[in-house]
Amino acid sequence: MGNKYNFDQIIDRRNTGCIKYDSASKRMGRDDLLPMWVADMDFSLPDEILDVLHSRISHGIFGYTDPDDSYFEVLKNWFAKRYNTHLSGDWVTVTPGIVYAIACAIKAYTDISDKVVIQEPVYYPFRETIEDNDRVCVSNTLIQKNGKYSIDFDDLEEKLKDPKTKLMIISSPHNPVGRVFTREELEKISLLCLENGVKLFSDEIHCDFIYKGNKFTSLLALEDKYAENTVVATSISKTFNAAGFQVSNIIIKNNQMRAAFRKQNGANGYSQASVIGLEATKAAYTYGEEWLDELLEYLEGNLDFLRTYIKENIPKVKLTEPEGTYLLWLDFSEIVEDKKQLKELIINRARLWLDAGSIFGGNSELFERINIACPRQTLKEALDRLKTAVEEFTR
Ligand SMILES: Cc1ncc(COP(=O)(O)O)c(C=O)c1O
Repeated sequence: MGNKYNFDQIIDRRNTGCIKYDSASKRMGRDDLLPMWVADMDFSLPDEILDVLHSRISHGIFGYTDPDDSYFEVLKNWFAKRYNTHLSGDWVTVTPGIVYAIACAIKAYTDISDKVVIQEPVYYPFRETIEDNDRVCVSNTLIQKNGKYSIDFDDLEEKLKDPKTKLMIISSPHNPVGRVFTREELEKISLLCLENGVKLFSDEIHCDFIYKGNKFTSLLALEDKYAENTVVATSISKTFNAAGFQVSNIIIKNNQMRAAFRKQNGANGYSQASVIGLEATKAAYTYGEEWLDELLEYLEGNLDFLRTYIKENIPKVKLTEPEGTYLLWLDFSEIVEDKKQLKELIINRARLWLDAGSIFGGNSELFERINIACPRQTLKEALDRLKTAVEEFTR
């Protein structure tokens, strides 16, 4: 493993306004919880990227800014190198976030009371955004068997055949179950969408977090007929822990779909992106690859650490083996009977702040999502707290 970067360093994030640490009293009514919830890492960006940002800040003028040619060049190179995906800068629309882009797509491609398919358990803003826009959310719930998740294609076909269904949104890789869908699975989803006149939104925000032995396939890498029916959303916000910069890249190959998306984006009153966000995106994709590769090794180490720890100390907690993402999906069904007991275990006894499975839908009340993108010492502290709580709880 390379050791240029120090991921073991504990950085105090309190009093920076970050929601992970600083919103505990407001959101949880207490501040003694170790936060391992929201998808936000506790690592600093490397100097290579920070130097570019410092230099831009030193210029002192931050007026309206558009992405320039070099922005699209850098994006194209990253996609070509890491995912063998060839895109054109013209296909890209910059938005202030992916959830924002999902809302745009919903409004651009569906009407009020149309149906939108998602695959629960899934990142809960999918359902919220669909319902907040007065569309009907339909779940093609993932099948869980022996700790593994797969797609129920018969159910999906039935839901896509409904003439009211106009859009499907996938999390690829999948948050929270950690699946990195295979090319075959993605082709099958794409074919079913195409055959039934349903557009596909592929949220690929977690695509840089792939564990060894798995391969990420971008929807843009599929045959043209599928790529032409798809919106692909990506950003540096997970990869480089830069959600606060508020810049995402929404890639739409199909001219009509892109025009409809941009019309909606304009209707929302959005035009220029954050100047520092654009600079950070360019710098991260230009200078950040070595840091990311080391980070992936560190996260793989955290995953190994957690797997061994729970096997040896809390074997009743079952890890859903992830193929990607730094968000792990833990099954507590051998310890608790309902979500009230789970809350008591995690919050009151373990003093941990995780994401309760129930918010993700899809029969997940006895699950919790834990974020392992932190120094190993923090992860150990979380697992020690969990071990003590489980021992007390099951005594
Ligand atoms: C699957 C998925 N999509 C989107 C987001 C958030 O994207 P944004 O902050 O750009 O709206 C997250 C954040 O955790 C996520 O997990």
